Amino acid sequence: MTKIVYVAADGTRTEIEAEDGSSVMQTAVSNDVDGIVGECGGSMACATCHVYVDEAWADRVGPRNPGEEDMLDCAASEMKPTSRLSCQIKISPELEGLVVHMPEAQF
Ligand code: FES
Repeated sequence: MTKIVYVAADGTRTEIEAEDGSSVMQTAVSNDVDGIVGECGGSMACATCHVYVDEAWADRVGPRNPGEEDMLDCAASEMKPTSRLSCQIKISPELEGLVVHMPEAQF
């Protein structure tokens, strides 16, 4: 299990012990974390799982996968340098304590 910290647009923090191998999106949806929708189920077809990876974690999480940028261009909230589709961030022990910030809106 790996701890992931979700920070809502209003600053509310939710800490979840996530299953390794799952995604940041799937973990949020399974645990009813508000602010991540994951409408397409993780197939990179909706951008309703948009998150801003905390600056301190950007290097460890790594760059966007090919195709993410195109979807993020259509996201409801502004794309920033650390924007990712959370369905494409796979949870592993190296991400223990990862902090992701959720945008104001996903639609
Ligand atoms: S869940 Fe649809 S793009 Fe991530």
